[in-house]
Parts: sequence; C-alpha cells; structure tokens
Amino acid sequence: MGGLSRRNMLKAGGALGALGALSIATPAHAWTWSPTGSVAGAGAGLDPRWVWDEEADPLVAALLDRGDVPRVNELLRTWTKNGQPLPAGLPEDLRAFMERARQLPAWADQGKLSLAVEFNKKRGLYLGLLYGLASGMMSTVIPKEARAVYYSQGGADMKDRISKTAKLGYDIMSQNAYRPDGEMIVTCVKTRLVHAAVRHLLPQSPHWPDVADEDIPISQRDMMVTWHSLPTTVMQKLVAWKVPIPAGESEAFLHSWQLCAHMLGIKDEYIPASWAEANSQAEQVLTPVLAPTPEGVKLADILLGLGSSVDAGILSKPILGAFTRFMLGDEIAGWLKIPREPVWDPLLRLSWKPFIAVREGLLPFPLAPEAYWLFDEFLRKATLLFLSEARPISIEIPQTNRPS
Ligand code: HEM
Repeated sequence: MGGLSRRNMLKAGGALGALGALSIATPAHAWTWSPTGSVAGAGAGLDPRWVWDEEADPLVAALLDRGDVPRVNELLRTWTKNGQPLPAGLPEDLRAFMERARQLPAWADQGKLSLAVEFNKKRGLYLGLLYGLASGMMSTVIPKEARAVYYSQGGADMKDRISKTAKLGYDIMSQNAYRPDGEMIVTCVKTRLVHAAVRHLLPQSPHWPDVADEDIPISQRDMMVTWHSLPTTVMQKLVAWKVPIPAGESEAFLHSWQLCAHMLGIKDEYIPASWAEANSQAEQVLTPVLAPTPEGVKLADILLGLGSSVDAGILSKPILGAFTRFMLGDEIAGWLKIPREPVWDPLLRLSWKPFIAVREGLLPFPLAPEAYWLFDEFLRKATLLFLSEARPISIEIPQTNRPS
C-alpha cells in the first residue's frame, strides 16, 4: 500500500485521521465483522489492522533497549509449567505483566476443555497432519506472515522455527493443556512476548522498508488471519472429509483455540464465538489475502525439504508436496511452485475420502488396504515430525532480525 503506511497516515492527520483514511482507502479489505459475534459479545468494532498489543509491545521494546533480554530468556527457560511460579529475578515490569497475562479469562470453561482433550485424542493423527501441511503451508501464502517470518531471526533456521511453532500445536493437544501441570499458558505468554519483540525489531531490518507494506507487523488483524489458518481451516477440512464430529466436541475444539487467541493477547472482541462466526470472519480476512511472495516460496521450499532429513524414503519432498496440493488446491500449489506428482496426486485425490471412511468405520471393507496402511503410516510419521520432535524446545525472545 506504499504511501499509505501507518506512519504516513499518522503524520498526515493523527490517529483518528488514520482510521478514517483506511476505511476510505481500502474498501475491499474494510473490516465489517461485528463484535456481537465475538466471545466478548460487544466492542468498539475498530479494524484490528490498527491494533497491536498495547501492554506487551512497549514492555518488550524496553527490555530490548535495556539489554535485559539475554537474562530474561535464561530465567524463562526454567518456566515451563502453567502452575509454576515465575522465576525469581525477572525485571519487575515484566513480572507484573506476566502475572496478569497468565490468568485465564473468566469465560474459560473447564468442561469444554476436558471434551477438547477427547477430541484431540480421537483426531490426533488428522490434526497433526492438518496443522503441519494445511496450516503450516498456508502460512507461506499469507504475505505479511511469510515476510515477517522470513526477515525475522527465526527465518534463517526454519527447522528450529517450525519445531518451536509445532510446540504450540503439541501443547494445545495435550491432556493437561491449560491445567496447572500443562504448558499451553506458558507457550502462549512466551509467544506473546516474541511477537512483541518482532514488532519492535522488524521495522529496524534494512529489508523491511523495501518489502513490507506496513511499518509495524503482526497487527491483531494479522493474528486473526493466522488463527484462521489454524482451527478454522482444520475444522473446514475435517467437515469436508466427512469425519464424524459430535457437536460438543467441535465446540470444545473451538473453545481451546479461543482461549489460545486470548492468551496470545488478541482482544476478546475479535475472537469469534462460534464456527459460523469464525467462517464468516475467515472469508473476510483470510481468503482475500492469500497470495504468493518470493519469501513465501522460499519458506515453502524449505518446509517441504524438512522431511527428507528424517525419513528420505517416505517423508520425501514429493509426498509432502502432493499432500500440500491435495489440501490447499492447485492454485496455491502453483504459487508455491510445487511440481505435480504422477503417483501421489491421483492416489490422494481418489483414495483419501475412502481411506477416512474406512478409518472411521463408515465403509465396511478397505478398497485397497496397502494404500491405506501407507497413509496411516505417513500420518504417524508426519505427526511425529511436526509435533513430537518439538518437545524439548524453548521459545525465546529474539534480539535480532535475520542476519543477512
Ligand atoms: C513466533 C505462533 C501469528 C510472525 C511465533 C512462535 C509461535 C507462534 C508459537 C514462537 C516460535 C518461535 O520463537 O520461533 C503464532 C500463532 C499465531 C501467530 C499461534 C496466531 C494465532 C503470527 C503472525 C505473524 C507471526 C500474524 C506475522 C504476521 C511470527 C514471527 C515469529 C513468531 C516473525 C518469531 C520468529 C523468530 O524470529 O524467532 N509465533 N503466531 N506470527 N511469529 Fe507467530
């Protein structure tokens, strides 16, 4: 959007002018989603494009400026469980913020969270695959996310980055996710600090003015875009594949992700209250922004190559590429320059739904048992790659951008 950067707009007419200018300037991307459909049920209805994290951002910027981050990272390495007290020695402003940020909202529902555990247990294989190959690969065609990831510190080591991101997927699926002995609250609060650091650091990258159409990355609107690439996309796929899901479990799965959004610092007025609201918001904010970027193409290539180091025989690039094409479609596969696979593409197209039906007991006889076994084996390996390997990973506040 070039000259319409936030800084220019603020210069031109103050914050209110900026908000007004946006709604006139970009009607195609205007924010019309009503806060009445949110978990808060009400709100100002401001476009979250101009909302970041007013608590965490100045705090983490100050930590970086004061040179406190190495010490903070070292201390926070020992903070791993939701119920664990914060380590002694943290700067007082950070400690006070984290004590507030780790509290679950009043609307957290333990009953729903227990049901979400059931759902995650039953659907773990599909979920692992979908988080990795539908959500993960989709992130490479969300331009703002692809650029932010590529030019931030983690962009230079995608294996490390993907395993850190997968930790969140692992934690949210674990039995005790939000309970005192779980790790999801810790992961979310640390990630909130990481995002705040990225908002401070990325604008200092020498590449940023050339590639970005914004001054400050990771707005609340961007957060919701990425959020939809996760639970909303996953649920849409499960429904399309006709995986039987009781209504209560579907709602419980949504609830676990609503809580994740809240704990990442997204305001309740932007978090959809139902799948219908989530689908309508995704249609407005996610679908229209999907597009290729040079950074996204490079990231996708790295992601598709990750499997070969683990299992060159099965998790090879062609299979991951074929799964990506199958899940995200020909257009996105084309954007990402994923080659067509003469064996795997038709196999997935023809056998995936029957495979699901057999697994779910909806079809009495497997049509081609060997192929289904191969799918099952693939799912296990993919889940292991994307999720289990992530266990010992510690999420840390970055201090720099991508080095080159
Ligand atoms: C870091 C998850 C939204 C860009 C992380 C990390 C996690 C995560 C778990 C920590 C891993 C690490 O340190 O590498 C999420 C979730 C999101 C979300 C669940 C939404 C629901 C976004 C958005 C952007 C973004 C919208 C950009 C537009 C980044 C970047 C890092 C990061 C650049 C740091 C990479 C580094 O330098 O280490 N995110 N994120 N994230 N995220 Fe997000």
